[in-house]
Amino acid sequence: MCNNVVLIGFMGAGKTSVGRALAQICNSILIDTDSIIEANYGISVNEIFALHGEEVFRKYELKLCEFLKNNVKNAIISTGGGIPMRYNLREIGSVFYLQAPLEALVERIQSDTSTKRPVFRRYKFVGDLYNERIQSYEKQADYTINALDSINSIAQEIYNLMKGKK
Ligand code: S3P
Repeated sequence: MCNNVVLIGFMGAGKTSVGRALAQICNSILIDTDSIIEANYGISVNEIFALHGEEVFRKYELKLCEFLKNNVKNAIISTGGGIPMRYNLREIGSVFYLQAPLEALVERIQSDTSTKRPVFRRYKFVGDLYNERIQSYEKQADYTINALDSINSIAQEIYNLMKGKK
């Protein structure tokens, strides 16, 4: 596989889990944007929001995207759910949108103990945020994938699609 695979979608879509499985299948490396940001700045996503505010977090995301565009090949990249609102991820690789209905995503996020989702907690009506974002996700998607399938079958599906492109 020579091109980067970029996974996009709303919180809870399974981007990181699918990315991990796909990296195994492709014998590649997963780059998870939230994890890279946390490692680089030495604080959690949550703390960045709390101490510096969302705009600073978004700046970190954009800086990382530029770096990925200019320096990274052959990787699997799982992205934070807000990135497609501000950056055209097609500049980095083939974009796969993990799509699922809001209800399923909310259920997943609520049962996830991860504390990296201040945006979710802030929104009383997370449906508004979901609706706002759908357009950007759809616009950037080279492929739309059903995020309700199992992690492994999604990873396999993406692998097959990438292989078919060669
Ligand atoms: C965000 C999604 C989170 C994380 C941050 C902001 C968003 O990542 O980047 O909390 O704006 O949708 P996941 O999409 O992996 O949950």
